[in-house]
Amino acid sequence: MRIVLVGPPGAGKGTQAAYLAKNLSIPHISTGDLFRANISQGTPLGVQAQEYMRAGRLVPDEVTIGMAKDRMHQPDAEQGFLLDGFPRNLAQAEALDAILKQDGLRLDAVLDLEVPEDEVVKRIAGRRICRNDSSHVFHVTYNQPQAEGVCDACGGELYQRDDDREDTVRKRLEVYHSETEPIIDYYKAQGLVVTISALGKVAEVTQRAMEALPSR
Ligand code: AP5
Ligand code: ZN
Repeated sequence: MRIVLVGPPGAGKGTQAAYLAKNLSIPHISTGDLFRANISQGTPLGVQAQEYMRAGRLVPDEVTIGMAKDRMHQPDAEQGFLLDGFPRNLAQAEALDAILKQDGLRLDAVLDLEVPEDEVVKRIAGRRICRNDSSHVFHVTYNQPQAEGVCDACGGELYQRDDDREDTVRKRLEVYHSETEPIIDYYKAQGLVVTISALGKVAEVTQRAMEALPSR
């Protein structure tokens, strides 16, 4: 299965992707996590991405598309993948179509997570992520770790993401509406979009997603 996850910042894409990828036996590919790993390793790509991420803006397409393409061509992604945070504008969606076409492949579905804006603001305000791996995600009230400030998955220290400050969140939501939302119509025209509500408990949303996705 080749699936794209789309939804506003804080919708729960990363949280759901972890469960869905496991259920579907495909890798979870998050461009945000790839950028954060590059930042913590101090790579040139990380240095380049950091200033855009801090400002809540998109990292330039030429950087992002190349990185996503390399990751999709890793051996573990041969049987499929769950893309989280990519594509994020029409140019990236067209580039993804071109990459897949070149490989003789196509997307199976685009899963659109719908959440009202006041809820995403609450989710982002309480989010804490792991220093060792930014895909280990918790929430101070909705998804508490067993020990305060400590990652359940690896024991790492939990902290608040740099771009989760209120002014940056506002910018990220603006960028989502202006640049990312148009890709939903692009994929609707291809008959790929499945929209579900991302409200409710994490496990309820996962079940809703599993029921909504095409079986294959
Ligand atoms: P990225 O890391 O992709 O951030 P995002 O899209 O803004 O999404 P988030 O990670 O904020 O939220 P999420 O939907 O994954 O929610 P989560 O599961 O954590 O991108 C960051 C930046 O990188 C971008 O701004 C950009 O600069 C750059 N970038 C990345 N990709 C790019 C691209 N393709 N092109 C250009 N630039 C790119 O959940 C949120 C919180 O809610 C958590 O605390 C969680 O525990 C909690 N939660 C989850 N589900 C529930 C639930 N059901 N009920 C209650 N709480 C819940
Ligand atoms: Zn961890």
